[in-house]
Amino acid sequence: MIEIKTPAEIESMRRASRVVAEVLLQLKPLVKPGVSTAELDAFAERRVRELGAAPAFLGYRGYPATLCVSINEEIVHGIPSPKRFVKAGDIVSLDMGAVVDGFYGDAAVTVAAGEVSGGARRLMEVTRASLERALSKVRAGARLGDVCHAVEEHAAANGMSVVREFTGHGIGRRLHEEPSIPNYGRAGSGPLLKTGMTLAIEPMLCLGRADVVVKNDGWTAVSADGSLAAHYEHTVAVTEDGCDVLSRAD
Ligand code: MF3
Ligand code: CO
Repeated sequence: MIEIKTPAEIESMRRASRVVAEVLLQLKPLVKPGVSTAELDAFAERRVRELGAAPAFLGYRGYPATLCVSINEEIVHGIPSPKRFVKAGDIVSLDMGAVVDGFYGDAAVTVAAGEVSGGARRLMEVTRASLERALSKVRAGARLGDVCHAVEEHAAANGMSVVREFTGHGIGRRLHEEPSIPNYGRAGSGPLLKTGMTLAIEPMLCLGRADVVVKNDGWTAVSADGSLAAHYEHTVAVTEDGCDVLSRAD
């Protein structure tokens, strides 16, 4: 069952999602060569709490931090560490969730540290654009498969691959609700989208193959071939004529 949220519930989700958007925006200039991923996490946790929210990932299934920081071939769920430093040329995916009044928001961006390769830049741009294309399919009366297909199609048109092991998800009173939202699928298939459904849509693309290996820490997912990965995510509400992006800053 895909839950429908009331307008008041969606406003709580907007507050949570805006905290995420604002903190991600404030993190971007800190992603510089020499910063440790633990410093980024500490900043994120402090800012989330100062903004009156709680970190959503901390303690979720035992995850030990506020932020996921996934660098280069790391796709998602990189655990912050005081021993891991960003270096020039890295692409750094920042993923964070927050809770306000019992409602969740979830978003992610990939940031370049200094000058990055042309391939890295293209991957980031195609991944970001694949999210925008997916958002453009969201409206009451569309099918979930329309959204999923838009990501896969844009990735394929640019010679990139989508990760199949991880998906977007419904979100609301819990971080992960129905439906699961793969980054591939057939247009016209899947559940009908209705006004008041709330979704976290999160394309994860690789420059090479998209096979995934999870590292020994039990969390960090990397591309099996070592190719670069990028990740962007927004929390949105389905409306009559489109999509209300809850996780855009201001
Ligand atoms: N944005 C990811 C997701 O929705 C992050 C979850 S990380 C976890 O699945 F630590 F909370 F698991
Ligand atoms: Co998510």
